[in-house]
Amino acid sequence: MAVYRIAVDGPAGAGKSTLAKLIAKKLGIDYIDTGAMYRAIALKLIRTGTDYNDADALAKLLADTDVDFDSGKTMLDGEDVSGLIRTQEVSEMASASSAVSALREKLVALQQAMGKRKALIMDGRDIASKVFPDAEIKFYVTARSDVRAARRAEDIRAAGQPCDPAQIQKEIEARDYRDMHRAVSPLTLVPEAVIIDTSDKTVPQTVNYMMGFIETYFKRAGIKA
Ligand code: DC
Repeated sequence: MAVYRIAVDGPAGAGKSTLAKLIAKKLGIDYIDTGAMYRAIALKLIRTGTDYNDADALAKLLADTDVDFDSGKTMLDGEDVSGLIRTQEVSEMASASSAVSALREKLVALQQAMGKRKALIMDGRDIASKVFPDAEIKFYVTARSDVRAARRAEDIRAAGQPCDPAQIQKEIEARDYRDMHRAVSPLTLVPEAVIIDTSDKTVPQTVNYMMGFIETYFKRAGIKA
């Protein structure tokens, strides 16, 4: 089977993981959620009370931490943490701690190793700019912040919890700003990426649109999917 990398970058809540998961299924390739990797480390920082600005303590924690995926589940030191990493507290800690270069270096090396073995679709903030600058296909998925906040509010309500969409929109905008303006590997739109705005599109419409680009690449590269 051909080895190729599909990079999907974009801000929080734009629909990256929903789209990447569906495309991975259609193509029969692995889906790697790099945000889940930053979240798993964030969970460990919270649990152990480690200060990510303390270089020695962080180095010790990183040397002693294993982050991996098992049948779509996010594994932290062998424990399935898929549900535990989706809290607001972990979101905030992941956004803040992912600005630290030592932490990024560890995860980027793991992600690059995954892309050497087999075809995959990987989503995050720096996949096209840093992890796989030579990725065969690069998408930048985005949506207006009010649309992203409404989607997030819907998820929270579906989980039976109250929420305030205006407050969520504020939090999303603050997180966008941090992710885009940090010194190390900020969220970047590379010039060669195909921009996908999901604000006014359904999921199937967007998947079909993205599959059109992927199939064109396969034809040109002589890959049989
Ligand atoms: O995609 P997400 O919301 O699950 O990501 C959680 C945080 O991790 C987000 O605030 C930014 C950070 N992140 C990153 O810095 N680089 C990545 N490749 C993926 C996520």
